[in-house]
Amino acid sequence: MSNKVLEKALNEQLNAEMYSSYLYLSMSAYFSDAGLSGFANWMRVQAQEELSHAMKFYDYINERGGRVILKQIDAPETEWESPLAAMEAVLEHEKKVTALINDLVDLAIKEKDHATNIFLQWFVTEQVEEEDSVNEVLSKLKLIGGEGNGMFIIDKELSTRVFTPAEPA
Ligand code: FEO
Repeated sequence: MSNKVLEKALNEQLNAEMYSSYLYLSMSAYFSDAGLSGFANWMRVQAQEELSHAMKFYDYINERGGRVILKQIDAPETEWESPLAAMEAVLEHEKKVTALINDLVDLAIKEKDHATNIFLQWFVTEQVEEEDSVNEVLSKLKLIGGEGNGMFIIDKELSTRVFTPAEPA
């Protein structure tokens, strides 16, 4: 990739997506341990999605003649105070990712790399969907106060989520 500033930033985002995957897999383990298999499934699918996001960056860097450099992935947290706290952490994390994507778009525009700008638009749209789907679960959890029969119903609902691979970039 001729633009080394962008190449470095895209590699950093690849790492951020890997971390997201790791974080959600850690949450999946937390939910499994808490006996909430539907929540665990939802998080596991979320982790798969994040891995596919990372691979989009991986493929794009290669496609542009850049060099993928894999760095250490930070260890995620392992415990949360409650299912509600975990879902709130997901929303917070996704907001951070949205900001990272927006910064990347700004950088692509600044560097006049139109192809990267177009590549990133998929992620701009994806972030709207991601925040929306987390918000949906969060609203329901808040409604039932995170306990009782409602939890059973939400858990059942979240057990139906399946991973659908995104179109290649
Ligand atoms: Fe890859 Fe949830 O952002």
